[in-house]
Amino acid sequence: MTTTTLIDRIGLLYTGDPEREEIADAALVIEDGLVAWTGPAAEAPAADERVDAGGRAVIPGFVDSHAHLIFAGDRTAEFEARMSGEPYTGGGIRTTVAATRAAGEAELATHAFSLVREMRAQGTTTVEIKSGYGLTVEHERRSLEIATTLTDETTFLGAHVVPADIDADSYVRLVAGEMLEACAPYAKWVDVFCERGAFDGDQTREILSAGLKAGLGARVHANQLGEGPGVRIACELGAASADHCTHLSAADVDALASSGTVATLLPGAEFSTRSPYPDARRLIDAGVTVALATDCNPGSSFTSSMAFCVALAVREMRMMPLEAIRAATYGGARALRRTDVGWLRRGARADLVVLDAPSYVHLAYRPGVPLVHQVFHGGLLL
Ligand code: NIG
Ligand code: FE
Repeated sequence: MTTTTLIDRIGLLYTGDPEREEIADAALVIEDGLVAWTGPAAEAPAADERVDAGGRAVIPGFVDSHAHLIFAGDRTAEFEARMSGEPYTGGGIRTTVAATRAAGEAELATHAFSLVREMRAQGTTTVEIKSGYGLTVEHERRSLEIATTLTDETTFLGAHVVPADIDADSYVRLVAGEMLEACAPYAKWVDVFCERGAFDGDQTREILSAGLKAGLGARVHANQLGEGPGVRIACELGAASADHCTHLSAADVDALASSGTVATLLPGAEFSTRSPYPDARRLIDAGVTVALATDCNPGSSFTSSMAFCVALAVREMRMMPLEAIRAATYGGARALRRTDVGWLRRGARADLVVLDAPSYVHLAYRPGVPLVHQVFHGGLLL
């Protein structure tokens, strides 16, 4: 016997389903961990249990499609230096690599789990987790093995930066060869930090192509610190997502618009590195699918809050509240090529957030205020 749960008296239901994106005075039925029905409360079918939303808004659980959670140490001093005027170059990645290599597996796993718990409490029900602070075959494999205990969306980012003790050519060969082979069983995705000071266009192509050949999907850290070939390579190779997209040429925008590659914007990084924000309007107006994610990592964006990213996107990037909530749910799911999350339509996983607010607009209107009343994950109240 399955139990059905009716969430009743929803003031505003943001479904994320393009066919019927918002329903006022709504209800939703959960059955077997899935959404069984959505519609006006007045038409709701009977159910075994009833939850009274009390006029609150309900949204799909956030899909955070870009996070680096397997690490040790902290970079408070680097953040303070930036706030006194130092630029962000990505060089601090090596500091975290040293701390991560020195940490035990249990310490890394406990820390990552606490970050995931922090995310869940703030309404994130799907999270992608990257490696990238190990940068040896064994340390990358270990990071990914930990990540698989926390999510299905695991990403091999051996190509985060070239470690100090190896030349770039040898490292690219290692990443595309032995390291990929050891990591592929634990990874769904392959990612490269394509940027001056990290990996150039040829190296990015080589590593992504090897990953694709090994059966992984591609995603790219592209055009974060300056213009470069990252976005175009992502589109060319059919990557699910090009992430950051802060510095784009007209050709980059065209490439995104005519491909299935999602532009994932990470405003927490611009906030924490005091950098100019990406031009979300230009992308949306060109018809590009946009996602928002936290980029949670100890260097450039140590936030686990999707609500904070939504607020930044609205205030600083001129996204409308509707566009921002869409990017943080539906957009994130597209960036992970998932159709079972990111929206509340019949058959989707019942991942949803009851907000202590009458509308999702409050996520931006009341920045920094904890507005999560309840989180349901797979139909279960967390
Ligand atoms: O997405 N850009 C590269 N990687 C991370 C930052 C990593 C770090 O600084 O530790 C990012 O911003
Ligand atoms: Fe990142």
